[in-house]
Amino acid sequence: MEPAQPTPPILAHADFVFAAELRASIEAEQTYAAADLGPTDALSEKFRVLEYDAFYGPLSPDGTPSPSPSSSRSCSPAPRAGPASPSTRKIAPSSLPPLDAAILSGNSKARRNKLKSKQNRKAARSKQREETRADPYVIRTSTFLNHVTPAVPARTRFDLETIPVASTGFVALPDTDGGDTCGADELVRIHGCTYVPWDGLSNIPITDSEGRIIAVLVARPQQGDWDSVHRRAFNTLKSTRRRCRFPKNSKRHRRGNFAVLNCGVSHGGGRTQPGNLYHSAANRRQLDELLANDDFKRIAGFSSAAFAAWAPKLYMYYEDHLDRLLDHDPSLRRNFPNSIWGAAAFNFGPRTVTRRHRDCANLPFGWCGVTSLGDFDPKQGGHLVLWTLKLVIEFPPGSTILLPSAVIPHSNTPISRREQRASFTQYTAGGLF
Ligand SMILES: [Fe+2]
Repeated sequence: MEPAQPTPPILAHADFVFAAELRASIEAEQTYAAADLGPTDALSEKFRVLEYDAFYGPLSPDGTPSPSPSSSRSCSPAPRAGPASPSTRKIAPSSLPPLDAAILSGNSKARRNKLKSKQNRKAARSKQREETRADPYVIRTSTFLNHVTPAVPARTRFDLETIPVASTGFVALPDTDGGDTCGADELVRIHGCTYVPWDGLSNIPITDSEGRIIAVLVARPQQGDWDSVHRRAFNTLKSTRRRCRFPKNSKRHRRGNFAVLNCGVSHGGGRTQPGNLYHSAANRRQLDELLANDDFKRIAGFSSAAFAAWAPKLYMYYEDHLDRLLDHDPSLRRNFPNSIWGAAAFNFGPRTVTRRHRDCANLPFGWCGVTSLGDFDPKQGGHLVLWTLKLVIEFPPGSTILLPSAVIPHSNTPISRREQRASFTQYTAGGLF
């Protein structure tokens, strides 16, 4: 009978330093958590193995780390040349002294908490993104057949090829003309403009000389309460104006002498990246109330739906880019869930009459939506003047016009001193695209 062979002693590697290995292990855990894989115990065994492999090297059949880890961040000591047994590189919590096991156990709990916390933050971000995404709008065939098809276009002599666009194509060239405000009579008699009577009840697409639609006078919604909607919206603006504090340049500016506050996502004007337009806390509260107001939500949604009906491809271009931008940066705030424009201007008045201007920072080939509000006679004043199209258009309260405000100089005709006019405009800066 041969004597039993004594069990060879298991020696640690000469270069094994527990503290260094523990640090490496913690770093590996943090990398694992940063990869946002979620808690491993919530994953199937298959995925748990795959994901563990990606970070720590393949697991051995009994679920312990491989003796030959592929990752340099393994908690096992580095392999070295020589006859060392694989068992010498296994570290199981049960084989550690009590203190070390407690450290590893605590680390595991911290890791689970960290993963859980990260998962919660991710879920909150996802929820916020869903809330800020525009409601998908699908044009009904009946809308197209009832509104778009039968509309009789107003053709102009304007050549669309002459629009003043920057070489990038995403902003218009600066406006060098401007400042004019004329009455409708003067515009027709002296400037040779064509007068367009419009009651806001019919759709009138305006085309260039080739028949391409440049702008649209949008028929107001057929619901019987639309008059109440736009009148309430105007009254809301009047009462909100009294609670806002307007900086000097928000009351007297290049577009005219009327109070205005813009809100939403924008780019340009000195900004180096997309951001939310900034306001004082007092004005922010008032703007938030306006954005939550049901009447303004309906006006915003109606303008957006009209955009979709008249320019579906352009609408999808807006929708796609804004959605992707907001997904990319969750800090950006969408004004209305039912609108694809990035920003809005509340033109409080009390007499919103714009001088001739272009909004050259807007997307040149895009549209903005303008809704006229107030208490004035649209046959006497408040017309929309499209200078290069040589049109003077009646613009009654509660009606909406879609136009490329970056490239078509536009203004309003004056209203009488006893009248009041406001407007609500939605737009998207070209820099956001
Ligand atoms: Fe404008």
